[in-house]
Formats: sequence, C-alpha cells, structure tokens
Amino acid sequence: MASKEQIDKKKMPKHIAIIMDGNGRWAKQHGKNRIFGHKQGAKAVKEIVEISGEIELEYLTLYAFSTENWNRPKLEVEALMSLLVSSINSETRELIKNNVRLLAIGNHDKLPKNVRKKLYDAIDATSKNTGLKLVLALSYSSKWEILEAVKKIASQIKEEKLQVEDINETIFDQNLTTKDIPHPELMIRTSGEFRISNFLLWQLAYAELFFSDKLWPDFGKEDFLDAIVNFQQRERRFGKTSDQVQQKI
Ligand code: FPP
Repeated sequence: MASKEQIDKKKMPKHIAIIMDGNGRWAKQHGKNRIFGHKQGAKAVKEIVEISGEIELEYLTLYAFSTENWNRPKLEVEALMSLLVSSINSETRELIKNNVRLLAIGNHDKLPKNVRKKLYDAIDATSKNTGLKLVLALSYSSKWEILEAVKKIASQIKEEKLQVEDINETIFDQNLTTKDIPHPELMIRTSGEFRISNFLLWQLAYAELFFSDKLWPDFGKEDFLDAIVNFQQRERRFGKTSDQVQQKI
C-alpha cells in the first residue's frame, strides 16, 4: 500500500481520469440495493478528491454518468441525478475551502433542469479556485464528443473560417469539450473490467492504463496512490525505443 511520501513530485501526472465502476456489484455483495452502492460510491469520490488535492494533482476527471447510463432503469437514473444534486449541495463549500475548481464535460442538454442549474451554479461558485480542477464527465460519451467536434469543424469550413488542409490534431483538440484540459496521462478503471467504455477515446491515446480489482466504493486513498506509484515506475515511450527515451542514442 503506497503512501503520499512514495509519490515522486517530479513525475506527477498532470491529469488522472477514472472510470468509477462496481457500485452495483458492491451493493449486491453487501445485500443492499444498487442506489446504496452509488451512495457509497459518492463517499469514495470524496476521498479521492481529497487526496488529489493533498498531492497537488492538477486535473482529476471522473466518469460519473455516461450517455449509455440514460438507458438504466428510471429509478436508478433518478437516484443518480438526486445523488449528484445532494453531493453538490453538501460539498460545494468544501470544494471552495480546498481551492478546488469544478468543471464538467458532456451533453448537459439532457440533464434535468434542476441538476443542470445546480451543476452550473457550483461551477460558477468555484470558478476562481486555482487548485485541483475536478472535471465531472456527466451525460458524456466520447463518440458523442467526437461527432460534436466534427460538426463544429464542418461548420467552420462551411463558413470559410477554416480550410480543410488546416485541420490537424490541435484544431481537433480545440473543438472537443476538453479543449483547455491537458490529455490524461493515467486512466484508472476499478472493478476488474478491462474496457474504456466510450470514455475520452481521443484524449487517452497515450495514457497509461491502470486496472484495479477493487469495486469503486472500496477504492480508497492508498489504492489511488498505488496507481500513481505504478504509473511513475513505467517507461513512457510514445512510439520511440527505450534507448531513445533514456537518451542513450
Ligand atoms: C458504475 O457502477 C458507476 C456509475 C454508473 C455511477 C458513478 C457514480 C458515483 C460514483 C456516485 C456519484 C458521483 C458523484 C460525482 C457524486 P455500476 O453501477 O456500473 O456498477 P456495476 O457494474 O457493479 O453494476
């Protein structure tokens, strides 16, 4: 189990993204309903946000609700929406106190009005904070985001603001909902599943992936630090050879 002291400050990832999976299975294992599992999941969110601030992480993106999650039973969707509202209600003051800035990505037109308002009020209330940027992926899917970017680029070409030849990775990046956010260097998924599930497909191109067997409600500060220590021990080659990376040639 890693501790904060084991983290090499010089090798800190700027941005960590997490697929928080396993609330339902956690609930089943404890003889509770799925909603209870999500509530426990929200407690784990609080822990991970706290430790992220303590180790001075710059960006933490949490996959809180995917586009596909709208297809879950109505009661579960409603419970997740009200959990989001109650978490914002109870935590905004704490976020401000800890200098955390809240951001959100996703198709927010689909969110119920009251949820959208709460979310944007909290985003506004924390907008001056300069510490951890906490990005909630809400009603988010990467394919949706990529298609939106393609539409925006196509409109710019139609309006003759952009030439086809000028489209490059930077232009594409600027048309994503993550436009001002660096790409994650580390992506963590809990619950022993090995999938990306429509999450930040473009942005994760060179991310290191870390899969934990723990179900999300059981994923604590030490597990998070373990993932970072593991990341710091990896050699990131970006298509180069090991010798090149170590500057032997
Ligand atoms: C995946 O577990 C989790 C979700 C779909 C929702 C994530 C929500 C939270 C962690 C709680 C609230 C979040 C915030 C930001 C306050 P699952 O339901 O797919 O689990 P299963 O695969 O075991 O069924």
